[in-house]
Amino acid sequence: MKNVLLGVTGSVAAYKSAEIANRLTKNGHSTHVIMTSAARKFIAPLTFQSLTKNKVYTDMFDETTYEDIRHISLAKKADICVVAPASANIIGKLASGIADDMLSTVLTAVSGKPIVICPAMNSAMYMNPIIQRNIQILKNAGYLFVEPKKARLACDDVGVGALADTSAIIDFVESLLA
Ligand SMILES: Cc1cc2nc3c(=O)[nH]c(=O)nc-3n(C[C@H](O)[C@H](O)[C@H](O)COP(=O)(O)O)c2cc1C
Repeated sequence: MKNVLLGVTGSVAAYKSAEIANRLTKNGHSTHVIMTSAARKFIAPLTFQSLTKNKVYTDMFDETTYEDIRHISLAKKADICVVAPASANIIGKLASGIADDMLSTVLTAVSGKPIVICPAMNSAMYMNPIIQRNIQILKNAGYLFVEPKKARLACDDVGVGALADTSAIIDFVESLLA
């Protein structure tokens, strides 16, 4: 049994992360979900709480008690971190060292454990040279990526930017944990 930290950001593809949380939990892992504020516009924390049987973390300042600084304890106990879907915003924040919410702060505090980024965004956003530069910064820093696929996107554009298949994401995570 491993501790998997699953970050969910503000994308239409957030509904697919419920399947990722479900499969990882059914595979026997303890799955801990952190949602950004934008992610909660797309899917409710209750879905993840019900699937994982664990508390879902959303607000950094609600979580810290006198006995536990939660963003540090979550970072320390994670065996692996997965961000799926990963927005352009979280990729930019991680590439810049910005830690202004629970997810970006926990990920910035993770040390020596794999962090898997699964981008999902409109293809023009994904091909934006600044986003590509940020992805390269993260790759150079050792972050791992499950690349997005080409598909008809929610905005009806056809191009690269759709979240990778959930099975590909889960297989990659399991291969790293094995
Ligand atoms: C309907 C809708 C769909 C969106 N889909 C995406 C997306 O797939 N990828 C993305 O990077 N941003 C998307 N956005 C924009 C993000 O939600 C926005 O940049 C937000 O600030 C991201 O915050 P977060 O990274 O803290 O979750 C979408 C916004 C809306 C309104």
